[in-house]
Amino acid sequence: MDKQLHIPVLLSETIDLLNLRAGNRVVDCTLGLGGHSEAILKKIGPKGKLMAFDQDETNLKKAKQRLKKFEKQIIYVHSNFENLKTEIERHRFGNPDAILFDLGLSSPHVDIPERGFSFQKEGPLDMRYDQTQELTAQLVINTYNEKKLADLIYQYGDERRSRVIAKAIVNERKKHPIANTLQLAEIIKTTSKGKIGRHPATRTFQALRIYVNRELEVLESALHQAIDLLAPKGRIAAISYHSLEDRLVKNIFRYYTRDCICPKELPLCQCNFQKKLYLLTKRPIIPTGIEVEQNPRSRSAKLRAAERL
Ligand SMILES: C[S@@+](CC[C@H](N)C(=O)[O-])C[C@H]1O[C@@H](n2cnc3c(N)ncnc32)[C@H](O)[C@@H]1O
Repeated sequence: MDKQLHIPVLLSETIDLLNLRAGNRVVDCTLGLGGHSEAILKKIGPKGKLMAFDQDETNLKKAKQRLKKFEKQIIYVHSNFENLKTEIERHRFGNPDAILFDLGLSSPHVDIPERGFSFQKEGPLDMRYDQTQELTAQLVINTYNEKKLADLIYQYGDERRSRVIAKAIVNERKKHPIANTLQLAEIIKTTSKGKIGRHPATRTFQALRIYVNRELEVLESALHQAIDLLAPKGRIAAISYHSLEDRLVKNIFRYYTRDCICPKELPLCQCNFQKKLYLLTKRPIIPTGIEVEQNPRSRSAKLRAAERL
C-alpha cells in the first residue's frame, strides 16, 4: 500500500450529513490528502465551489495533484483554519452551504518519521503541521521548566503521571539535549510500571502535538466563526479523534442550540441570545466495526453535525 495514503474517515456518514446539493459552496477546513473534498466535489457538481484549507504545505500539494480535474472550482488556502472568516471575506466566497472539519493528523504525518509525530519511528521532535512556524516539540521539551512541562502534559494529554514524566525529562536533558522521538519515548517508558496496554508515551505525545499546534484554541475560534458564517440551513460537521476535541465540538454546538444564555438566577431573560443551530447528532456517530477493521486509524473518530437556523 502507498504509505502516504490517507483513508478518509466516516466518509459516507459525513457526506450524508452535509446534505450537499449541486451548485453548493463548501469549505473543507482540513483538506489533508483531499479524500473528503473529492467526495464533496462529486456531490456539488461543476457549478459548485470549494474552499480548502490546510496549514501543511506538503499535504496541500498532494491534494492539488489528486483534485487536478476540479481545479477551476477550488480555492486552496495554505493557512490555519483559524483564519476562516478573513479568508472567506478576502476571496468573496459568500456564506457557505456546508463546512467540514476533519481534525488532527493525516496518515503521512504519522508515517513520515521526519515529521516527528510518531513515538514508534525515529525522527526529530518536530510535530508541527505548519513547518514554517517557530515552536517545535524539541523547543518545548528542551527549554520549558518542569512545572510548565508537567502542566501541559496533564492538560492536553490527560496524563495522571505528568509530574513524574516531566521530572524524568528535565533530569535527562541535564545530561544532553533530547533530540529525537525514540529518545523521548524511552525516557517516558522508564517512568512507567510496564503495564500492558497502550504505549506509555501515547498521552505525552498527544499533549505535545496539541500544544505545539494550539489545536484546541484554534478549533474553538474556528467553530464560532464557521457557525456564524454558515448560510441559513447550511450544515457543519466535525470529526474529532480525542476527547478534548470532541468535548469542545459538543459544547460549542450545544451552546448555539440554546434560546438564552442568561445566568440561571435571573428571573427574566436579558441576553437577547439568538439560537443559531439545530443539532443533527444527539450522540456522535462512530465508525462501524468494518470501517475500524479496514482502517484502524478511524477507531477513535467521532462525528457531530448541526444545521444553521
Ligand atoms: C485528518 S487530516 C484530513 C484528511 C482529509 N479529510 C482527507 O480525507 O484526506 C487533517 C488535516 O488537517 C490539517 N490541519 C490540522 N489542523 C489544522 C488547522 N488548524 N488549520 C488548517 N489545517 C489543519 C492537517 O495538516 C491535516 O492535513
